[in-house]
Amino acid sequence: MSNAGLARTAYAAVTTEQRSRMRMLDLLLARQSSGALADPPPQGIELDLILEAGLRAPDHGRLRPWRFVLIRDGARAEFGECLAAAIKARDRAAPPSLLDRYRNWASRTPLLIAVGTRIRPGHPVPEIEQLLSAGAAAMNMLNAIHLLGYAGIWVTGANAYDARVNEALGFRAPSRLVGFLAVGTSAGAPDTTTATPRPERSAHIFEWNGPSPTTPAA
Ligand SMILES: Cc1cc2nc3c(=O)[nH]c(=O)nc-3n(C[C@H](O)[C@H](O)[C@H](O)COP(=O)(O)O)c2cc1C
Repeated sequence: MSNAGLARTAYAAVTTEQRSRMRMLDLLLARQSSGALADPPPQGIELDLILEAGLRAPDHGRLRPWRFVLIRDGARAEFGECLAAAIKARDRAAPPSLLDRYRNWASRTPLLIAVGTRIRPGHPVPEIEQLLSAGAAAMNMLNAIHLLGYAGIWVTGANAYDARVNEALGFRAPSRLVGFLAVGTSAGAPDTTTATPRPERSAHIFEWNGPSPTTPAA
């Protein structure tokens, strides 16, 4: 039988439930990041579901390391001041336009979720796993944001690694931020022409058939 014939036979064997699950996955595969955000942000039950999705992240040892700090409404302008102060402390010559850019970003982003991890040093679960779990929580939330019809982007930049910004949000080393989710309603139809091209599968996916001199990570 031809490949197309085989594929048709395989598809026909897929149950209705599996097809509906595949459609959900299709929706997930259409996710793309967007920083062009408008009001309204998710609120109420929708925001709760997004946060629940974050709390569904895998977590070695049930450490529950995730910490999500919501920055919204009037707190955004104050957070913008925090960012501006941190930039200025890092670089006294930072131009006022740069400080204003961050003030505006914070004030205009409909909702910011600062995602961090509470690190337990010396715990048998290695620190990198405590960090990765927070990354997984951020990704779960981004997916939930998308599935509910909202838009978002995960950003870091020097501010996410700045001790002043971390402390202002309640993270003292070794606990730390893993980034900010900027969230809102997409400010326009998703532009498929500017969407990040998806990677070539062959560069990323390998079949292991025993030790090999070629290294996928090269
Ligand atoms: C940990 C992390 C930090 C990131 N920080 C930034 C950032 O500071 N600024 C930015 O423009 N994109 C940043 N990105 C990339 C965007 O979140 C996004 O993945 C990228 O724009 C590609 O879009 P896509 O998700 O639609 O493929 C970061 C991604 C990750 C995973």
